[in-house]
Amino acid sequence: MTLASASGKAILFGEHAVVYGQPAIAVPLSQLRTTVQVESLDPGMTGVLIDAPNISKSFLLHEADGDDPLASAVRLTLDELGVKAPLDVHLTIHSQLPIASGLGSSAAVSVAVIRALSDHLGKPLEVETISKIAYAAECLHHGTPSGIDNAVVAYEKPVYFIREHKPELIQISTRLNLIIGDTGVSMRTTIPVNLLRERWEKDPVTYGGWFEEIGEIVKEARTMLEAGSIGSLGTLMNRNQVLLEDMGLSSLELQRLIRAAREAGALGAKLSGAGMGGIMLALVELDTAQVVETALIKAGAKQVFITEVDR
Ligand code: PMV
Repeated sequence: MTLASASGKAILFGEHAVVYGQPAIAVPLSQLRTTVQVESLDPGMTGVLIDAPNISKSFLLHEADGDDPLASAVRLTLDELGVKAPLDVHLTIHSQLPIASGLGSSAAVSVAVIRALSDHLGKPLEVETISKIAYAAECLHHGTPSGIDNAVVAYEKPVYFIREHKPELIQISTRLNLIIGDTGVSMRTTIPVNLLRERWEKDPVTYGGWFEEIGEIVKEARTMLEAGSIGSLGTLMNRNQVLLEDMGLSSLELQRLIRAAREAGALGAKLSGAGMGGIMLALVELDTAQVVETALIKAGAKQVFITEVDR
């Protein structure tokens, strides 16, 4: 039996603008994981059986829909590994990550599947190859992904990411306490991404200017993170949020949670990921974490995660 796992992720700064060539910063959330177990099939069965009890799915690979995301991750991995002969294995996938919420659940599933299958077959892959396969899986479901999700999840390190460039691993020199509030509104990444594209096509000057402003925020944030000064990181998060709101990517639920976190003493708060639902994150001092958590629950958060960012 082989076990492998992959972390969730949060985008600290720069989502959406990253699709248009600006930099973004994302961190892995190693406490929130997806695990994949690979074992031999029960006698009498053949093929690749995929079980995902969290989402009540159980199917054989050769019977899966062409666009099933779990099946795609398995197929792409087997192709990369050059597996031609029929394979008889049982994959079980467990995830602690809510789906379509900005926590990188699809990248985590892909990376964990790739790691588990390649280890099981005795052909472990380089992290760059794992990221590349996970990107190919993201492309099948998200249209035009920037590649930040598969990169941060595959490397499991904080990344400064520019589309079509090798991710730069950054050293965060200070403790960062984040609180993540889940609106409970699931939102497929493609919806806000496509909406933004339509708006940008109608008004490229305004939107292009906003993307550049976000890029400047990301660069300032990187300097602060590397210098270990969280002084105005919260303010940068708030400025990034204003721009995301201007672009129409926030929502009433997100606004409610962001306001509650700030009023309870968070240093800054913003949506994270695709927006229009999903999660928000707040930067807090350790001694205000509990107060912010309580405020988020009172403001309607369906789940709250308190996490310290890996360095
Ligand atoms: O919501 P998520 O976790 O899929 O993050 C999407 C991030 C975007 O910048 C909006 C899209 C992308 O491909 O980078």
